Amino acid sequence: LLDVLFLNVLCLYLSSAAPPNFIIFFADDLGFADLGCYGHPSSVTPNLDKLARGGLRFTDFYVTVGGCSPSRAALLTGRYETRSGIYPGVLYPGSIGGLPLNETTIAAMLKPLGYATAAIGKWHLGLGAKGTYLPTNHGFDHFLGIPYSHDQGPCANLTCFPPDVKCFGECDLGAVTVPLMKNDKIIQQPANFLELEKAYSDFATNFILTSTQKQQPFFLYYPSHHTHYPQFAGMRAAGRTSRGPFGDALLEFDYTIGDIMATLDKTKVLNNTLVLFSSDNGPELLRRSRGGTAGLLKCGKATTYEGGVREPAIAYWPGRIQPGVTHELASTLDILPTIAKLSGATLPPVALDGLDMTDVLLRHGRSKRESMMFWSLNPSKKHGLFALRLGKYKAYFYTEGTSTVPDPDCVAPLQFHDPPLLIDLESDPSEHYPLSLKERPDLQHVLEEIMKVKASLEASMEFGESQIAKGQDPSLQPCCNPECSPKPSCCQCP
Ligand SMILES: *[C@@H]1O[C@H](CO)[C@@H](O)[C@H](O)[C@H]1NC(C)=O
Ligand SMILES: *[C@@H]1O[C@H](CO)[C@@H](O)[C@H](O)[C@H]1NC(C)=O
Ligand SMILES: *[C@@H]1O[C@H](CO)[C@@H](O)[C@H](O)[C@H]1NC(C)=O
Repeated sequence: LLDVLFLNVLCLYLSSAAPPNFIIFFADDLGFADLGCYGHPSSVTPNLDKLARGGLRFTDFYVTVGGCSPSRAALLTGRYETRSGIYPGVLYPGSIGGLPLNETTIAAMLKPLGYATAAIGKWHLGLGAKGTYLPTNHGFDHFLGIPYSHDQGPCANLTCFPPDVKCFGECDLGAVTVPLMKNDKIIQQPANFLELEKAYSDFATNFILTSTQKQQPFFLYYPSHHTHYPQFAGMRAAGRTSRGPFGDALLEFDYTIGDIMATLDKTKVLNNTLVLFSSDNGPELLRRSRGGTAGLLKCGKATTYEGGVREPAIAYWPGRIQPGVTHELASTLDILPTIAKLSGATLPPVALDGLDMTDVLLRHGRSKRESMMFWSLNPSKKHGLFALRLGKYKAYFYTEGTSTVPDPDCVAPLQFHDPPLLIDLESDPSEHYPLSLKERPDLQHVLEEIMKVKASLEASMEFGESQIAKGQDPSLQPCCNPECSPKPSCCQCP
């Protein structure tokens, strides 16, 4: 009895003494089949492969939508982007709106528990007047990064690979060149792509060292620019893969992940840190061989087909998560409630769409998630859901293509389906063979069940005011030299 008592007290002491740390690595436009550990033959991802070998690798992990800003909003709030108003499409450098300040991010949720919080890399949840929507106003103590996509400014004259290989394509002409920001200050414009990754790696290392020295639990959110167009890489990774620019960019991200894991080891917090990896959406197929691949999944970014929304995902926590593969349904939505459960944080008092997945992580158990709904990048009450997965079945009420690729479905215009297209994702993960209710009358009850879930999910959805429909004001574009002219080209500070 005394032993049990002692163990209980010890456990209490340990759990109260050392709340877990959390790290989220979030790749950009990286597809289901882009990592070595997900079968890519020429990608080089030794550190991610090691996390997959020593952790839990997901086969059925979803983001909510195939676009950068809304996918990030859902991850950080545990709520569909429709609720927070991050639609339609994505935010721009001069966007007036952003992730509303009354939304609670994972960082803001952890702050009351004394966590140190930092975001590095690509934010893309708004900037607004005087940096209203920056990470430092959303629960992050520190931010080092670019506030939006690194192609949202002219890039043709920037260097993407050493010694002086220019970036491929022009990116967005007519905007300011992309700034590197520290908290709410611009420290470089344009950002130097060749040194960016090293700056992030150093920053992350210092953040972990400082937090662990102070015995402060920490949350590090690292949404990388890799492997979004235009792909870039510094000295360490450039030219090191046979896959070309995409492979080099991915390797550079992988190296930083390795640096951060080494720092966790050195500071002896490896066994007290949950590390999660995923990607914001599927591959941008219009980049052709310079873009990513969803492998056997259909289509890519900006669609609700599997290639747009089903992503690689890894959870790593030595001693707590047993190595393996899970086929359970899970989503970026589930990260906030899971972190709440593991840290003891109070859930934000809002309509959450995420579900606690600690059983899946810590016990290889069943997922609480039975369904996943997919809105279009341009969602509306009028159209309602585009697609819904329930168990192994996915029903499409609408389909819409986007990019120039060989599969005609990926470029097809908006199409309404009644009865819905019904796919069995287990026997047909590539979605080639919609099931026929004529041949399979037994599926009628599946469809009825899906329609019931659809009606209840749609009824539970309250659309937040669209932040993106608020439009853009060119004077809000970040400029290191605010009084200069002519804009935007004068906004350059070496
Ligand atoms: C945030 O404020 C807006 C505007 O008042 C409101 O519509 C929305 O429901 C609020 N969101 C949350 C999460 O409280
Ligand atoms: C890039 O450099 C060329 C040559 O100096 C110049 O003509 C062009 O305007 C520049 N493009 C941008 C977007 O700055
Ligand atoms: C975690 O690692 C530290 C240092 O490596 C060690 O002292 C501690 O006993 C480990 N804790 C658990 C629960 O394994």
